[in-house]
Parts: sequence; structure tokens; C-alpha cells
Amino acid sequence: MNRILVTGATGQIGSELVPALRKKYGPENVIAAWHKTQPDRELLAGGPFCVLDARDSVAVEKIITEYRIDAIYHLAALLSASAEKDPQLAWDVNMNGLRNMLEAARKFTCSLFFPSSIGAFGPSTPADNTPQDTIQRPTTIYGITKVTGELLCDYYFRRFHVDARGLRFPGLISYKTIPKGGTTDYAVEIFYAAAKHKKYECFLKEGTRLDMMYMPDAIRAAVELMEADPARLMHRNAFNVAAMSFSPEELYHAIKKHIPDFTMTFQVDPARQAIADSWPHRMDDSAARMEWAWRPEYDLAAMTKEMLEKLSHLR
Ligand code: SER
Repeated sequence: MNRILVTGATGQIGSELVPALRKKYGPENVIAAWHKTQPDRELLAGGPFCVLDARDSVAVEKIITEYRIDAIYHLAALLSASAEKDPQLAWDVNMNGLRNMLEAARKFTCSLFFPSSIGAFGPSTPADNTPQDTIQRPTTIYGITKVTGELLCDYYFRRFHVDARGLRFPGLISYKTIPKGGTTDYAVEIFYAAAKHKKYECFLKEGTRLDMMYMPDAIRAAVELMEADPARLMHRNAFNVAAMSFSPEELYHAIKKHIPDFTMTFQVDPARQAIADSWPHRMDDSAARMEWAWRPEYDLAAMTKEMLEKLSHLR
């Protein structure tokens, strides 16, 4: 891997993946591509960057040839709640963007990372210990684009030998960039609210158990998967990866250990609750553990402690 393009570089994952890749592979070798959201100074100063709409195949190929890209982390996509508000746009961005990236990867021999999600599962999937290979009939447009993306990436691998690999990310928790338009966003908002106001109104109801992961584990998982020995990979798109699974009240109690007067109330958003109710509670990630030695480092207690330390300046 020599020259890497990261799309969606200003998003929740991209804003942490780009600095990590620049540290590992050299700043000049990681091109940060953004579209709607302006980058911060750190991203602009840290290495090459460009504006790119992944739906524009001509622009995609121009960037890939100009920078002699040989690896793509294609992160640009709409999240679940935003996608449900505009399904046509979600299909356009999530699918046509991916297709253009896969085509460019085929023509110019690039490897490609594709972030799938717990959203690739649906209500007919076993919710506990969700197997690596199981029923995938999601009921959201976001999930439909993720399953289609998984299949398309595997197709490009089998048919055209494109080295496409992916992860089914849980809800991701981070302190650097706030996620936009996701169903699991409550698990990030709650930390900001706890640090600033010591109170939070949760949009998912009590007992809504979902897989979650702290961003450093997610970044490491993506990089480790892309570096894994291909001979060991029985699966490709996409691996279940898990780190912790909790409900809003369990997260609340974990935060309350550090902020004893923190309070939480509930104001359920039916749209996002319906999405969450269709997703698994806890994925079985044994295939990732066996095939490329995946291990999470952060559990709920360790993640909560670090999140509150990092956000302590808000108090
Ligand atoms: N975090 C994402 C969302 O809530 C799921 O992949 O949409």
C-alpha cells in the first residue's frame, strides 16, 4: 500500500482514520477527499487533500490517476436516519459512489476498504450472537445499500480480482467528530451532554441493546484488515466486529460512576427507534478473530473513562 485515497475524510471515521494512516504510511501518501463538510485545519495541514463527489466517475478516475492511488478507503455515505429521510439520495450516494470506486479500483488495480454496518442486518436476523453468515434482509434503505455494497465488493473480488475488504461496524463512539444522521448517535451525544450539562434526553428507549465500539478500535480494525494476509481470509465483505453491547441505561450508569449527579430522561424518536429495533444486539465476531486476529481493546468501562477525560474541557 503506497498511495491511499480516503473519501468521506471529514466524517466521523475519516477525521480519525486520515491522521492514523498519515502517521503509519507518511503524510504525503494519504489523500483526504471531502465533499460537503469542510475539513478542519489539522486535516488540511496534515497532507494532500481534494474535493471529490464519489458519484462523479470522471472526477474519481482523475484523482486516482493524478495521485497514483493504489488503496482506497471509501467512507463517503449517508448514515441510517439521514438515509431514511431521503432514500433516493441515499441510494445515489451510497451505491453509485461505491460502484465508481470499485470500477476505478478494477481499472487502476487498487485495493478497497468498504465500511458495512450492523445496519446490514434486519428483523429476521438472529439478534443475539448474530452469525457471520446469516439472513440479511434489512428493512432500511441504509441497510439495503450496505448489503448490496457487501455483495458488490465480493463480486468485484471474484470476477475482477479487486482486493476489496470490509467490516460490519457497530455504532462508533468518538470525541473528535460528532456523527451525523445515525441511529447510534445517542451514544456519542450522551457524553457531550454529560460533560457539558450533566443531563441528557435519550431518543432511544430503555432496553435498546446495540453493538458499539470505541473509535480507536474501529480505526485499528480497518487498518489491520487491509494489512491481513489475503491467504487467511475466508470472508471478505464484510466481517462482523464487536467490542461492547449495551442499552442506554447501561451507558448512563457507566457515565454516572464518573459524574454522580448526571441524569437521563427519555424522549423516544419513533423513526430512529424503529431502525434500532431492526438491528442485532450483539454480533458474533469469531470469523474476524480467527481469520485476521481481531481483538478489541476497549470495553464499556475503559471507553467511558477515556471519553469523559477527553471531553473534560467542556465542563
Ligand atoms: N452508526 C450507524 C448508524 O447509526 C450504523 O452503522 O446509522
